[in-house]
Amino acid sequence: MRPTIVIMPGDGIGKTVLPEAIKVLKAVDFQAEYIHADIGWEFWKKQGNPLPQKTIDLLTEHKIGLFGAITSKPKYIAVQEIDPSLKDKGYVYFSPIVSLRQHFDLDICIRPCKSFKGNPLNFIRRKGEGFEEPLVNTVIFRQNTEGLYSGVEWTNPPKNVRDAFETHPKMKKFKDVPGKDLAISSRIMTRNACRRILQSAFEYADKFGFTNLTVCEKPNVLRETSGLMMEEARKASADYPKIDLWSTNIDAQMMWLTKNPEDYGVIVSENMFGDIVSDGFAGLIGGLGFACSANIGKEVAIFEPTHGSAPKYETLNPSIVNPIAMIMSACMMLDHLNKTEKATRIRNAIAKVVEEGKVRTYDMMKLRGSQKVLNQGACSTQEMTDEIIKYL
Ligand code: NAI
Ligand code: MG
Repeated sequence: MRPTIVIMPGDGIGKTVLPEAIKVLKAVDFQAEYIHADIGWEFWKKQGNPLPQKTIDLLTEHKIGLFGAITSKPKYIAVQEIDPSLKDKGYVYFSPIVSLRQHFDLDICIRPCKSFKGNPLNFIRRKGEGFEEPLVNTVIFRQNTEGLYSGVEWTNPPKNVRDAFETHPKMKKFKDVPGKDLAISSRIMTRNACRRILQSAFEYADKFGFTNLTVCEKPNVLRETSGLMMEEARKASADYPKIDLWSTNIDAQMMWLTKNPEDYGVIVSENMFGDIVSDGFAGLIGGLGFACSANIGKEVAIFEPTHGSAPKYETLNPSIVNPIAMIMSACMMLDHLNKTEKATRIRNAIAKVVEEGKVRTYDMMKLRGSQKVLNQGACSTQEMTDEIIKYL
């Protein structure tokens, strides 16, 4: 059966890179229907809602989404830019991609960070008189719906909240702080969500031949929440005797990032720690032009590059941004749909283009982004896609 893919280009360069990914999917003869869905700033301005109900309905029906990027602007600009007829009617802007993760409970976020040989943006390390270039192949599993980003927080917490907190002995030292001077953000984690992220991480490690899985938390300090994650990790690991279970602290992990990143296979973290550690690893393999991701729930899955809408490049014609992060996100969709062979073909083609080094986007050449880069040897977005397709 041909799947139907809900495509949500969104704003800015989301509209540029998503069509490039579809060209590549067509080139590997991925048989699918594509259906467009609205999302982003334009719909906030016109309808007071950046995530129209129709888009939610399409995703509910078809289950698979491919997303470009959206633009989010501060509250005061959101109010200024909304259509005059909608002003002062109580419309409040929320990031539609965060809303999608919450609405469909997309609790498993996967962010693979794998270096391509020959990428000039790869991490290098001093060795003796020279340098070495360790190839990184780490996949971060970030719990996507709970933890410190649960959103349960207060400044000047109401009395009952404060009273509840004061039942904890460690609250004693905050007892006399006036409410307006007290802010609380909570790190909420459930056994179920920990179990789900660990199980999918172990399954993935097993399927793709990784030999270690690291829980990157802080159990020596965050004894309850990180402790729960560790407890579930030990249980899940019993079913995978061939995969070593390691545990690191998030702070030490960020240091080891530049010491021995090539040692880490799959990493599992809570929401905020996963956000941090995945950006750290992405920086070792080429940054935003290469960082892809998947948001996976029980029913629905949405695939997206990590980068945003980069508005300053939206109107450049031809476009100069790197489509690889978006194309690799489409590969993750293929993996999810058990079309691994097609995904591998695309990744191999990207690897060849990067290694050959004849065609490079401006970010790969460490140039400042502007139309000028096309005269400085950088390729356009479309030329990069064409080159990848040539190698398929
Ligand atoms: P951004 O990721 O859009 O851009 C930051 C910089 O990274 C760009 O100026 C550009 O130099 C570079 N860059 C990004 N994507 C690239 C690509 N494919 N190829 C080459 N270079 C690339 O982040 P920024 O500027 O902080 O945010 C811009 C807008 O995007 C904001 O409105 C923000 O809220 C939104 N945003 C949306 C996200 C999403 O849709 N998931 C994620 C991050 C930001
Ligand atoms: Mg982030």
